[in-house]
Amino acid sequence: MNYDNLKISTQQAENILSEVFNIEGNASMLPGEVDFNFRIKIQNEEGYILKISRPNEDVTYLDFQQKLLQFVETNGQNLIAPKVIKDKNGNAISEITDTYGKQRKVRLLSWISGRVWSTVNPQLDDLRFSLGEQCGLLTQALHGFDHPEAQREFAWDVAQSLWTKDHLHLFEGVEKEILSNFQNKFEALGNSYSQLRKSVVHNDANDNNVIVSSTLINPSVKAAIDYGDAIHTQVINDVAIACAYAIMNHNDALDAALAVVKGYHSTFPLQEEELLHLYTAIAMRLVISVTKSGMNKIAEPDNTYLLISEKPAWEVLKKWNDISDEFAYHSFRVACGFTGHPNEEKFNNWSSQQQFHLSDLFPTVCKVDVHHLDLSVSSKWIGHQSNFNDLDLFQFKIEQLQKENSTKIIAGGYLEPRPIYTSTAYDKIGNKGRESRSIHLGVDFWLPEQTAVHALFDGEVMIAVNDAGDKEYGGLVVLKHQVEGFEFYTLYGHLTVESATNYKLGSTIKKGDCIAYLGNYPENGNWAPHLHFQILFSLYNYTVDFPGVAYNNQIDVWKSICPDPNILFKLETLQNNEKITNQDLIDYRKQHLGKSLSLQYKVPIKMVRGSGQYLVDQFGQKYLDTVNNVAHVGHEHAAVVKAGQEQIALINTNSRYLHENINTLAQELLKTLPPELNVLHFVNSGSEANELAIRMAKANTGERDIIASEVGYHGNANMCIDISSYKFDGKGGKGAPEHTHIFPLPDAFRGKYRGKDTGEQYAKEVQEQIKNIHTKGRGVGAFIIEPIISCGGQIELPEGFLNNAYRYVRDAGGLCISDEVQVGCGRMGKTFWGFQLHDVVPDIVTIGKPLGNGHPLAAVVCTQEVAEKFANGMEYFNTFGGNPVSCAIGTAVLQTVKREKLQENALNVGEFLKHELKQLANEYPIIGDVRGQGLFLGIELVDSNMNPLAAQTDYLANRMKDHGILMSTDGPDHNVLKVKPPIVFTKENAKELIHYLRKIFAENFMTSHQ
Ligand SMILES: Cc1ncc(COP(=O)(O)O)c(C=O)c1O
Repeated sequence: MNYDNLKISTQQAENILSEVFNIEGNASMLPGEVDFNFRIKIQNEEGYILKISRPNEDVTYLDFQQKLLQFVETNGQNLIAPKVIKDKNGNAISEITDTYGKQRKVRLLSWISGRVWSTVNPQLDDLRFSLGEQCGLLTQALHGFDHPEAQREFAWDVAQSLWTKDHLHLFEGVEKEILSNFQNKFEALGNSYSQLRKSVVHNDANDNNVIVSSTLINPSVKAAIDYGDAIHTQVINDVAIACAYAIMNHNDALDAALAVVKGYHSTFPLQEEELLHLYTAIAMRLVISVTKSGMNKIAEPDNTYLLISEKPAWEVLKKWNDISDEFAYHSFRVACGFTGHPNEEKFNNWSSQQQFHLSDLFPTVCKVDVHHLDLSVSSKWIGHQSNFNDLDLFQFKIEQLQKENSTKIIAGGYLEPRPIYTSTAYDKIGNKGRESRSIHLGVDFWLPEQTAVHALFDGEVMIAVNDAGDKEYGGLVVLKHQVEGFEFYTLYGHLTVESATNYKLGSTIKKGDCIAYLGNYPENGNWAPHLHFQILFSLYNYTVDFPGVAYNNQIDVWKSICPDPNILFKLETLQNNEKITNQDLIDYRKQHLGKSLSLQYKVPIKMVRGSGQYLVDQFGQKYLDTVNNVAHVGHEHAAVVKAGQEQIALINTNSRYLHENINTLAQELLKTLPPELNVLHFVNSGSEANELAIRMAKANTGERDIIASEVGYHGNANMCIDISSYKFDGKGGKGAPEHTHIFPLPDAFRGKYRGKDTGEQYAKEVQEQIKNIHTKGRGVGAFIIEPIISCGGQIELPEGFLNNAYRYVRDAGGLCISDEVQVGCGRMGKTFWGFQLHDVVPDIVTIGKPLGNGHPLAAVVCTQEVAEKFANGMEYFNTFGGNPVSCAIGTAVLQTVKREKLQENALNVGEFLKHELKQLANEYPIIGDVRGQGLFLGIELVDSNMNPLAAQTDYLANRMKDHGILMSTDGPDHNVLKVKPPIVFTKENAKELIHYLRKIFAENFMTSHQ
């Protein structure tokens, strides 16, 4: 029948509603595969959904649905579900005659308000968990329900999905292969599948049938709607369907499914044998979906709804095909609280009865105990990245350690997050951004080259290869063992290629036989000679390689599949000691560290290693750092670390002794400054630098009055706080002290004066403050400002402002101080110092953060004249300022900026990033302003009335952190995202940043204000 002749208009729907139900309301059309559905809106009420069937709809089928809903209403406590509204004659199903004289069935159900799943962005673990939870509750509520229609033949029933085989000819190539692969898998599992527990289930929690609460932060699933696909089938099919749709549009489909499974299990406990079929059931639902789409494209080319889910269904089906079904099963088991691998318990029981010695594994080595070597990401033993990348050094260090522990075998590594795998080759993009494969799954035994490795138990050779090509294992042997009714495998990596490849697959090895010999690098695939020994219960589909390291988010699955090899040896020194948790650290801080110290992020992170523009947490997770302008030339830059280490090994004293380091640093700094600024004082922090600068100004002018900007911040010392409006006008502050004079934040975007030509207007405000000081009968001491006001929200000084302000201040006899603590040392790109952007020369410049790259080092530069007047006889002594170690570090930083052309990098990458951010601002109007210079940028979020959007800014920073990108927020209204990364930040990093910003800006919480 022609689709147009089936259609019901909204006017007709409203008439039907009125005639049949005596209800007046406004109808609007909703999508639907079979029925014609209308949303009925009634003022101040939730409203209804009116469902009008196609002609000749089977009444038994409709009766089934209505009875089912009524059953749920009675049995489903804690459950929201549509309620059946009876017509004016008390019928749950009514009948009408349409304009073509056809009989149509009509039903009215209560409306469930909220958002349809498909419109919810982001769909996070908690939401998917609640989906599972609700579906589980519904299955529970349907327990005991039956109806003849529940036993019908139904194409969307996963149990009946093999009909799709008859339509394979519609597909070709990879798609055909995938479909037939899953069909065959499903068919092969038929026997045990048919015995799984059955019930009437909803069977269609697809992305248009799930209602989510309207709250934009932490939303949850309210209800499943549309019970038209309910059927009596294996319960696991219902789980599979919820998963099949909820995993669409996620990079890591398996990870996305786990939360749904966990949620389902929490309200409707799933059985182990059901989980065995879940992977295939998910696949078969998708197989049905794409097969239906394939058929419908031919049958009803106009009905676009039928095609809606085809694309994401194919995408996810292809991804699903790449996932090991066994690994998925083990992951589902962990999600439901079972052991990841069913053999884990058997192995533990068996091995608790056994005792093996290291001399069984290495009979030629007469040692029984081990020295535990920590190679984790936080290990001080491995030191700087450049050290562990130096294989000769590594070998030397191992030998030294061996000498110090000559009676022991050096060993360790089980479940260690290792930095060795932090190269991007081990990264993948998961559902939360970059994930690093870093968790080591075996134990390493560090022994000399050619040490013989012997078999602990009888075994059969499964893998015997040279794996050096992948720089993983070198010679690799995997043996299969059969003990008391179960199997397991042992893996031996980093062997000599000759001894490892000398086997025929399937050949047997007896307990005590020599398996192979340890190789040396490079033949063994990585460092100094050692054995990587791993136990595993499954080989999955690996025939050559097997992961020796795993992703942190899969650690619970992998540690079950690959148990601790020390279970065999029971060596106390190899036991994983209890580590201090983050909560322990937080608790101690709260009790014993300053009460006004803050912690970044709602869930604080513990960072244990820095590397360039990345920080690494204790789990080996890498974060892209867009915040830290202190790690100026990159976290733990090798040249800077080396400079500090070398000097501290010699001497560190105060500056009363002669040392060339202090002179060298002075020379390096002066090369970057205008000739007028040529006298230096070295101090230990930005605060100390500003404290000294203000002292100098007072000594020079004899005046105490200081002019500073609104929302300026200049440090934590007494004087600094007194001139920091950010502090004294903020929480806990008591307003400006008598001698501090604040002029309005020179913000051309949302400040007192707006637009481009506001420089002079703001400068006049400085002049006002000068007048103010004069009115009080006093003179100006100093004017202090940052070239881009950081805490103010990355406020660029408007053109002409600084020039004019300096002129007014100097005319009044005051000194001009440029606070370059945040912006200095090449970050601005166009210029080395911020003041140079404005064509002025200050009397005093204060330098901090970047100069030491994390080491406490700061400086004050001034003119000869200022220095002369300050040196009034009172000695300036600073215990640490200018010490040889700090100066060596500062020199290394400045030389690195020059050698690696980092100022140019800040310019190029900064301009690129700014351009891309402006593009983004065109797409998302809540980005009101993008500003800044070089790699010191600000993104200000406002609504259409220029009101600040602090909640959105905070949301964005936290969501970016969820994706492994660190960002900070600032500004008087907390609505500015600051971008000020180490200036080794690359274009690729900028692209990654933009990619995730674009992703988060599209999320509901952000778009709801656009
Ligand atoms: C502009 C500015 N000046 C001075 C300081 C104080 O520096 P420090 O924290 O090293 O004492 C800061 C610190 O954030 C700053 O941002």
